Amino acid sequence: MVFAIWGRDGTGKSVLADALGRIFCKQGITAIIDTDLTQPTLPARINGKKLSADTSLGKAISGMGADDAAKYLHQHPKVKRLFYAGLTSQDEYLSFELGLDATDAARDFVEHCAVLGDTVLLDMSGQRSDPFVPAALSGADKIIIPIMPNVQGVCWFNAVKPLLEAMNAAGRVLPVAAMADRQHDLSVVEKAADMRFIAALPYVREFRQDGADAGTTPAATRYAKQVQKIFGMLREVKV
Ligand SMILES: Nc1ncnc2c1ncn2[C@@H]1O[C@H](COP(=O)(O)OP(=O)(O)OP(=O)(O)O)[C@@H](O)[C@H]1O
Ligand SMILES: [Mg+2]
Repeated sequence: MVFAIWGRDGTGKSVLADALGRIFCKQGITAIIDTDLTQPTLPARINGKKLSADTSLGKAISGMGADDAAKYLHQHPKVKRLFYAGLTSQDEYLSFELGLDATDAARDFVEHCAVLGDTVLLDMSGQRSDPFVPAALSGADKIIIPIMPNVQGVCWFNAVKPLLEAMNAAGRVLPVAAMADRQHDLSVVEKAADMRFIAALPYVREFRQDGADAGTTPAATRYAKQVQKIFGMLREVKV
């Protein structure tokens, strides 16, 4: 199964990908692909592992890459069956080139990962130029879209609807309220964006410091419950 998490910058996609990854990997091999190609992302995800730039996602989709996706998947040092692909601490901005065929290479890479693992989570960047966007929107079994319940969130979602329609993706979209707080009226947002949230991830102040390991504060517990709800829906998806 391939699930994409797509949306605006900074809406909590990566925190959600990690939280879902930690649940999915209890059942089988899970690969999280961080598609942000503008900065090294692996150091924060798999802390302490020094990885060669030859095993970076940039290489995998630059045309210099091999067809063996396993080389680019890095095992989490502490969590069994959880793997990450992304840019390494050894990557330099010019270590790889993104050619015209980067979107095809991205699609191939995702397909190879889906063969190697049981679950692939595409942790997308918010950039329009992200070469994984076509693979995610046309190929993912479900597309989770965290949306801030505010004017920007509504406008962004309304703006991407034509793209979702064009990619035949609208029926696979799962909108999720991101960083929801008491002040937000989710029903107003649903009406303005003409959609239904399938879950509402609360704002968790502690995430700012500790990421998804924020422990058991009330907000973190509510967040974990909503992640379970999303997981339950993804688990229902049939091949
Ligand atoms: N529910 C939440 N409540 C409070 N803070 C959060 C929440 N989710 C994520 N954050 C924090 O917000 C910041 C952005 O989160 P994250 O990196 O997951 O977003 P993103 O959508 O992956 O961003 P990007 O588009 O840059 O990849 C981080 O500092 C993270 O700890
Ligand atoms: Mg991210």
